Amino acid sequence: MGLLGLIFITLPCLILVSGQVSYSIPEEMPVGSFVGDIAQDLGLDVKRLKSGKARIYTGDSAEYIVLEKEKGVLLIKNRIDREAICAETAPCALNFQVILENPMEFYSITVEITDVNDNAPIFKRGEMKFKISESAVTGTAFVLEQAIDLDVGKNDLQSYSLYPTDNFMLKLQNQVDGGKTVEMILDKPLDREKKDRLSLVLTAVDGGEPQLSGSVQIHVNVLDSNDNSPVFTQKVYKSSIREDSPTGTVVIKVSAIDADEGSNAKISYEILNSVDDASEIFKINRETGEIKLAGNTDYERKRQYQLHVQAGDAGGLTDSCKVSIEIIDTNDNTPAINIMSKSAVVTEDVQPGTVVTIINTLDPDSAENGKVQCKIQRDIPFSISTTSNNFFSIVTESQLDRETESAYNITVTCSDEGEPSLSSSITFTLQISDVNDNPPAFERSSYDAYIVENNTPSLSIFTVKATDDDWNQNARVSYILEESSINGVPVSSYVSVSADSGVIHAVRSFDYEQSKDFQFCVKAQDGGSPPLSSNVTVKILIQDPNDNPPQVLYPVQTGGSMVAEMVSRSADCTTLYSQRRCWLMQRFLPSF
Ligand SMILES: *[C@@H]1O[C@H](CO)[C@@H](O)[C@H](O)[C@H]1NC(C)=O
Ligand SMILES: *[C@@H]1O[C@H](CO)[C@@H](O)[C@H](O)[C@H]1NC(C)=O
Repeated sequence: MGLLGLIFITLPCLILVSGQVSYSIPEEMPVGSFVGDIAQDLGLDVKRLKSGKARIYTGDSAEYIVLEKEKGVLLIKNRIDREAICAETAPCALNFQVILENPMEFYSITVEITDVNDNAPIFKRGEMKFKISESAVTGTAFVLEQAIDLDVGKNDLQSYSLYPTDNFMLKLQNQVDGGKTVEMILDKPLDREKKDRLSLVLTAVDGGEPQLSGSVQIHVNVLDSNDNSPVFTQKVYKSSIREDSPTGTVVIKVSAIDADEGSNAKISYEILNSVDDASEIFKINRETGEIKLAGNTDYERKRQYQLHVQAGDAGGLTDSCKVSIEIIDTNDNTPAINIMSKSAVVTEDVQPGTVVTIINTLDPDSAENGKVQCKIQRDIPFSISTTSNNFFSIVTESQLDRETESAYNITVTCSDEGEPSLSSSITFTLQISDVNDNPPAFERSSYDAYIVENNTPSLSIFTVKATDDDWNQNARVSYILEESSINGVPVSSYVSVSADSGVIHAVRSFDYEQSKDFQFCVKAQDGGSPPLSSNVTVKILIQDPNDNPPQVLYPVQTGGSMVAEMVSRSADCTTLYSQRRCWLMQRFLPSF
């Protein structure tokens, strides 16, 4: 221990303490590298080292340094890894002794191992995984795994960086124990619908020269939250169906899309109409959005339906749309015919063009399906014409004659212009009332009647008959004996005519010998107002049953036979008798 004095060496890496020598070397020097000139630093001769069998004593510790006795220097024997020897302890030093014998001496040697940036920061786990709901609020922190750098001092971990920084930023917090917590803070909300997986890289760097770094992958799985309402592909849907479409007809299919996933995206559809009957007539498939006809539509009752359809996801978010359904008319209504005004009876003398009936048609269908035309049968003296929309009038086309046709059954047929056309018809009877336009007509243009003389007075001789084509009163015939005189005697003292029956009665007994024949006129008159009448001439021929034996009243010879005739003085000699006979009788029978 003679060298216990202080040895001062000027080498920068040599610290000479009393009986002690210190060196400072970086770790990881190659084997055989020079550590220090121990002989010189301890003031020992190389021979003394040899003779003293100088050796290094490390106790149980591993030997990193070897003594080269020939040169009196310390060399690296084994690789020195500061981190293996000292871990985080700093400063790190190897302490050993150099022992000499004859006489025995020993010296303490300290070799400080300085750190070399030979370790990059490392993350123990290869990757980090997070499951974060898209509804996570900004500011939420997620603790990240820290990196480890075995080096010390400025070679130790210095900082972290995170990339990309679209949604997260990095927050480092110093701990009381000198460590750091590394947190990832949600900076901008996540949106699963835009990006459901994020991949970030956390990099840790040390302060060495050159700088070393380590990194780790951070996988973020963005979990869905029901943050999206269903959205209809259209705000308004339009469709149309014929009013006669059968139930089950597919009207339209609506569709909404929900950007969420799972049950948050499961949409169910519903028709919300409550005030009208639309939700009875149309049914929606809750799952597919297909709308089908479930009831009956009637264009004439309702021409358009507005459905309010809602789409809702399982999370209760909804959207709505309108479905406008137009009902297309089909020709399902036959025209209805109404008689607005009708004469049950018209007189036969009405002027052509007289309106007898006005009818109105109603067809609730649209366009051609509701356009109506009416006609009547051809073989009657009436025509139909339209006056204005859906109004038709039936007028007489020519002169009517009750005596020919006393009533008409008029059939009006109205058809629409649909395809196929629908039609309906009505028939009504029009009575033609009588006008006194026919005089009574005798069955014969003249009558000859025979009567045997000496008849009983009031004997009915025969009957005249006249008929009248008119009706009722206008056809009631009365018979009237026209005033005239026979041989100065009024005809009424010869015959009478029964007004009702036309029976002609003798008023007196006739005598052939007095008068062989006579004639008069009978008028037939109807009950019309004014009445009409016609005349007929009736000739009565008196027959002789030969009741007189020849007898000369006065010797008058006429053609070989004696005649006695009663001849009125005033008798008309132009009509009743032959002129000669008349003249004679008036001459020779002045007292008659
Ligand atoms: C009118 O119709 C009725 C009932 O069908 C019938 O009895 C009558 O004879 C018809 N009249 C005419 C003038 O055709
Ligand atoms: C009927 O006879 C009367 C008198 O003889 C005459 O005045 C009248 O015009 C006649 N009427 C007809 C219709 O022949």
